[in-house]
Amino acid sequence: EALARALDALPKVDLHCHLEGTMQPATVVELAHKNGVALPTDDPAELYSYSSLDEFLTVFWLVQSTLVDRDDWARLAHEAVTASARHGVVHQECFFTPTRHLASGQRLAGIVAGLDEGLSAAETETGTTCRLVVDMDRAFGPEAGRQLVEELVDLRSAGSPGAERVIGVGMDSTELGVDSTTYAPAYDVARAAGLRRTGHQGENATARQVAKCLDALGLERVDHGVPVLDSAVLTARMVDERIPITVCPTSNVVIARCFDRLEDHVLPRMRAAGLLATVNTDDPALSDLDLGREYAAVAEAFGWGWNQMVEIALDGIEASWLDDSEKADLR
Ligand code: HPA
Ligand code: ZN
Repeated sequence: EALARALDALPKVDLHCHLEGTMQPATVVELAHKNGVALPTDDPAELYSYSSLDEFLTVFWLVQSTLVDRDDWARLAHEAVTASARHGVVHQECFFTPTRHLASGQRLAGIVAGLDEGLSAAETETGTTCRLVVDMDRAFGPEAGRQLVEELVDLRSAGSPGAERVIGVGMDSTELGVDSTTYAPAYDVARAAGLRRTGHQGENATARQVAKCLDALGLERVDHGVPVLDSAVLTARMVDERIPITVCPTSNVVIARCFDRLEDHVLPRMRAAGLLATVNTDDPALSDLDLGREYAAVAEAFGWGWNQMVEIALDGIEASWLDDSEKADLR
């Protein structure tokens, strides 16, 4: 329909997208064969099936395990940006979560150089820009997280190829049984090095835990933030400080299952409360999504028209970590 087509073409930013979650099933199968990784099935419909965040993470980890050498990372990054650019994405700040690969012997320098190679080629082809945010995997604990951030800081100061493209740090993966404030030492290292700071909070965590993370970790953005409205104090603070929430509405329905239907999502209440709540994809290939379709789904679910969706796109630009002149160029 006309609005959906217009929203697909609308220039948009994606601030919450995991590179590994952009991998098309055919690419997973190809890389698995190339790298000798056993898959439970070659059927994409079966490969990408899960019914909770922790089940999803098992699939995500399987996808990650097919990424072995520098060329694999370059291919992943190139395919991610050329795919998003086809749906109106003009700038993205993408996560990658290398803890698992580092634990199995890959080097961060090679991963980052590979990603940079693929991203540079895709940027030239499409005009879409992409910066990287390295995520700590909470399944590996805060000490592994701190080491990852230290290694990134070292690569940046050594001028390692592509390291300057990684502008921030975050954390993802499970929240169950995790006290995310224990990642404070890692975030302290990031802050001291001038890196930006975000974190997944609130797929399976409470508003109180989100608030504690803002204080303990110095988060500048919150990824997901589903329970924020449960606390009037936290909501008022995030409104006043314009701390962005990178909301992923469809993901919250199909991955973490915070809501039964998109129509039940708190996004309209977040925006009505004055929160800087933006719309993002999370894991587009693993949830059969792109940002154009996500904007159309949100518009349809909440009865929003063109003007409201343009407001969301503009809020995405504000919430990005571009500098003021880069933001002005996108508006
Ligand atoms: N939540 C937590 N970890 C993740 C996600 C997510 O939505 N996607 C990829 N890793
Ligand atoms: Zn995510």
